[in-house]
Amino acid sequence: MISGKTKITGIFGDPIEHTLSPLLHNSAFRELGLDYCYIPFLVKAERLKEAVEAIRALNLIGVNITVPHKEAVIPYLDEIKEEAKYIEAVNTILNSNGKLIGFNTDVYGFINSIFEEGVTVKGSNILLLGAGGAAKAVAFGILKEGGNLFLFNRTLSKAYKLKETFQKLGSIEIIKKITPDIMRNFQIVVNATSLGLRGNDPMPLEPTLLSRDHVYIDLIYNETPLLKEAKKFGCKTIDGSGMLIWQAAKAFEIWTGKAAPLQMMKKIFKEKKTIDKNI
Ligand SMILES: NC(=O)c1ccc[n+]([C@@H]2O[C@H](COP(=O)([O-])OP(=O)(O)OC[C@H]3O[C@@H](n4cnc5c(N)ncnc54)[C@H](OP(=O)(O)O)[C@@H]3O)[C@@H](O)[C@H]2O)c1
Repeated sequence: MISGKTKITGIFGDPIEHTLSPLLHNSAFRELGLDYCYIPFLVKAERLKEAVEAIRALNLIGVNITVPHKEAVIPYLDEIKEEAKYIEAVNTILNSNGKLIGFNTDVYGFINSIFEEGVTVKGSNILLLGAGGAAKAVAFGILKEGGNLFLFNRTLSKAYKLKETFQKLGSIEIIKKITPDIMRNFQIVVNATSLGLRGNDPMPLEPTLLSRDHVYIDLIYNETPLLKEAKKFGCKTIDGSGMLIWQAAKAFEIWTGKAAPLQMMKKIFKEKKTIDKNI
């Protein structure tokens, strides 16, 4: 029940109808008996500044930020955490007594989702496919955890730009062409491109380049052709659903100061995925 004491959180985006975040957060608040509520807000780009000001005016606890506002929101905030500065994207805001602090919880989401699967990052050679927003979160996490990053992207200039920004954090090499020889250097392959999202997408790697010696991680929530193919080799595979849950769990913790009920959130997400194959 919403009362005068209920603390309000939510999400700003456009479109916003398909977001799963209200389901995850409201179920988690209920599970822990917290008097919080999570509301989706359709925010048009031209009203973003006003929407951010409303976080203070309406005394919201904080919000998630989704497409297309993750970069545009930055100038309106009072403090940006290190990871969000590097990634140039904020997906969570905390209203700390009127001071708006921007975080990027995708980094935490990615790292925790692979740690819980027993993946070792420190000292591993990791091939990262992609150089968009999600790839930047993965790159930050891998470098902070002491992994050696090898970066491949369709648009080479974007890979170089990522390297320029992130090389202060650790070892990054650009891969211009992926060959079977080069593949032998890696222990882990991460797909952070959007290839695999649509049914008729080509694979981000030629199937002949796959090897049983690799762990394959795909940020897409469903089992992509890449992961299906990797499973045929008996490889360990991890899809993006863990990252999604863990990034939500971190936002939950930022707002409430409490650990999120992860198992329950995972169960809810799995049930929803079974009902709606398009998430
Ligand atoms: N699990 C999670 O919690 C989570 C969180 C965030 C994102 N994701 C997923 O991660 C993926 C990437 O998201 P994003 O936000 O980083 O998107 P983005 O910023 O638009 O970047 C897209 C990336 O995919 C590459 N790409 C797109 N089409 C391609 C094609 N036909 N061939 C080769 N490369 C192609 C782009 O390469 P160019 O630079 O050459 O265009 C770029 O590197 C999406 O599938 C998204 O669903 C998952």
